[in-house]
Amino acid sequence: MNQGRPHTDMAREDVDVAREKQAAAEAAALLVEDGMRVGLGTGSTVAFLLPALARRHLHIRCVATSVRTEEVARDLGIAVEQFSDVDHLDLAIDGADQVARDGWLVKGGGAAHTREKLVAITADRFVVIADSTKLVDHLHSPIPLELLQFGLASTLRRLATVTVRDAPASPDGGVIADYTGPVGDPTILSSWLGGTPGVVEHGLFPPEMVSSVLVGRGGDVETWRFTGD
Ligand code: 5RP
Repeated sequence: MNQGRPHTDMAREDVDVAREKQAAAEAAALLVEDGMRVGLGTGSTVAFLLPALARRHLHIRCVATSVRTEEVARDLGIAVEQFSDVDHLDLAIDGADQVARDGWLVKGGGAAHTREKLVAITADRFVVIADSTKLVDHLHSPIPLELLQFGLASTLRRLATVTVRDAPASPDGGVIADYTGPVGDPTILSSWLGGTPGVVEHGLFPPEMVSSVLVGRGGDVETWRFTGD
């Protein structure tokens, strides 16, 4: 809990952050065109994207990265398909927990990073939407993980600096945990985590996966371009 700060300041901060999320999400909704196949991310920033997309009444087909996103999207009249039947997406839009200036991301605060990474890698363009509190100079722990239940004790022993999250299993049965050690060079950590048997997926997303980041900052939306956008 934030102590020593008046409630009014805290409320204003929350409102400002929500406005930044909404601005970034609404800017991203404008990137969607009729006929596209679109990947929908998960989280409170994406919660602003879904109504903005629904208001455009486009003929699009979507896949969702979580049960929650799928339910909300369907309630808003957005067509959602099973991802097992879709091998290509034009665009995926998702939030992030940390965004570094060089394009590295940390995702998975909402435990959906495995599905989010699969959806992002399937899309021609992966657009990240973030409020300005997500910007960091250097990525830091915790880095979300999804672990295989089979052999969990062995995986935890080998990873050493990992905490199992007090959270339900992923929709694919994985155990949600967080790597709590130093991050250092994200390329090295990413390849170590990715190469550790028992790790289903981790929440480090490299700049090569990111087309652009739309950052809500104050009243503006900044666009940071990375690969091919
Ligand atoms: C879920 C995610 C989210 O995109 C990330 O946690 C950001 O969430 P929010 O938009 O609520 O800040 O990776 O697994």
